Amino acid sequence: MTGDEAMGEIPAYGGATGSEDGQKRVRVRHFARAKEQGIRITGLTSYDFLTAGIFDRAGIDFLLVGDSAGNIVFGYDTTLPVTVDELIPLTRAVARAARRALVVADLPFGSYENGPEEALRTAMRFMKETSAHAVKLEGGRRSAEQIRRIVTSGIPVMGHVGFTPQSEHGLGGHLIQGRGEAASDLLADARAVEEAGAFALVLEMVPSSVAAEVTAELSIPTISVGAGPGCDGQLMVWSDWAGLTTGRIPRFVKRYADLAGTLHEAAVAFREDVEAGRYPSAEHEYEA
Ligand code: KIV
Repeated sequence: MTGDEAMGEIPAYGGATGSEDGQKRVRVRHFARAKEQGIRITGLTSYDFLTAGIFDRAGIDFLLVGDSAGNIVFGYDTTLPVTVDELIPLTRAVARAARRALVVADLPFGSYENGPEEALRTAMRFMKETSAHAVKLEGGRRSAEQIRRIVTSGIPVMGHVGFTPQSEHGLGGHLIQGRGEAASDLLADARAVEEAGAFALVLEMVPSSVAAEVTAELSIPTISVGAGPGCDGQLMVWSDWAGLTTGRIPRFVKRYADLAGTLHEAAVAFREDVEAGRYPSAEHEYEA
């Protein structure tokens, strides 16, 4: 989302953000305008102050403090164990760094499914304790009442349907969602999220043709995580995108860097320098 039209008073992007240089915060109304004007939205996950600042200065429109932190930061096998108490300090750090990007806090498994009041309590905790600007939660029709309750209280909600990692056991694994006859169920879920008042909808691991159809049907922007180019925006888990995650990565991920390789080489070079007595050298020493 770099067009002046989408952002109103926000200039075409290319540098630092925030009030110091006059750049305004991305808000949910900019998402609506981007959809109207066909301007694509960008998002990355972020879990810390340093990466959030870098992504923000690069003009990424929103930063999701995803429950994928459960895997990436805490090393759990799935996103299921991560808690609100674990995500709150990460979200606070990201919000502290983001001068322009909209910060979205992900509600973790077990913090909203019991009903609208529980969902609102959790959303309020994130808003009060982290300075995030919106929350995200998983589920279509099953989460509609939760979304409605949170939105009615003035908190913007991003929905999430298709493959929803918190339900990976119920879904039978990391499987593409919405294929064949399941496409109509996916559309019903997407409509329910829109009707409940969400400002945007993540579609994860959905065939491109189905995601394009959902995108055409909805008036809120769709954000693809492996749902093809027909969506209104694209979101990636930053460690996959930057080549920090090792091992198998999903087909939809495009690696924009090789951070794992770079850090590995740097660590080896450091160890070799220390072992050989090359580091520290005179330039790194303090004089008496
Ligand atoms: O937690 C996360 O990173 C997510 C995205 C993959 C949508 O929910």
